[in-house]
Amino acid sequence: QLSSTEDLKRVVGYKAVDDYVHSGMVVGLGTGSTAYYAIERLGQKLQEGSLCDVVGIPTSTKTENQAKSLHIPLVTLDTHPVVDVAIDGADEVDKYLNLVKGRGGSLFREKMIEAEARKLVVIVDESKLVEGLGMTGAVPVEVTPFCWKHTLRRLLGVECLAECNVSATIRREKGNIYVTDNNNYIVDLFLDRPIPDIFLAARQISEIVGVVEHGIFLNMANLCIVSGKEGTRVIER
Ligand code: A5P
Repeated sequence: QLSSTEDLKRVVGYKAVDDYVHSGMVVGLGTGSTAYYAIERLGQKLQEGSLCDVVGIPTSTKTENQAKSLHIPLVTLDTHPVVDVAIDGADEVDKYLNLVKGRGGSLFREKMIEAEARKLVVIVDESKLVEGLGMTGAVPVEVTPFCWKHTLRRLLGVECLAECNVSATIRREKGNIYVTDNNNYIVDLFLDRPIPDIFLAARQISEIVGVVEHGIFLNMANLCIVSGKEGTRVIER
């Protein structure tokens, strides 16, 4: 019986590595409190020798630091452009396995690395499953610091978000503007209902010049391992 949220995260993190990572692979290492357990498991298996010749590509400096502390060999897309499998958490997952990511701040590197993955394995507890994206919290958008207030205003003007009564805030941490690993800022979009046309929204957000990347991940995930009090299941796309 899995009791705590940490148990639910650990079980999917460990299962992702046990079932989808094989010796010799290039592995995209996600970011967040669930991906943490996948990286922990990978470190264990390399240490004990049940996996070998695996290299990781971290999606944030936080993950990089964890992986280094576990002696996981690290590379980058520059030298390893094909990622065999990437494992990452998500903030929201819909029934098509489209995702909202980035509430932890690492969406740009996550998207860049996971876009190159032959297989993207998403690991979540069942609280992340939603009927429509954009409802349970922020839709994060990474923006350039240059004229960020202008970019925030432009985001408020995204046509197809008007019917969701979009509001926006610049993300802060301890009173200061939060700065990403890429030295950018994050605008968090809040909506009062699920985004009706998520593909259109993704496109209209990307078209704004000051936007670096957004946390809507469409047609990227191949499967999702979900844990709940009743057990663990795999949803495939
Ligand atoms: C990091 O910026 C995010 O995209 C995370 O992958 C996402 O927030 C999931 O994190 P948790 O597993 O901590 O909920």
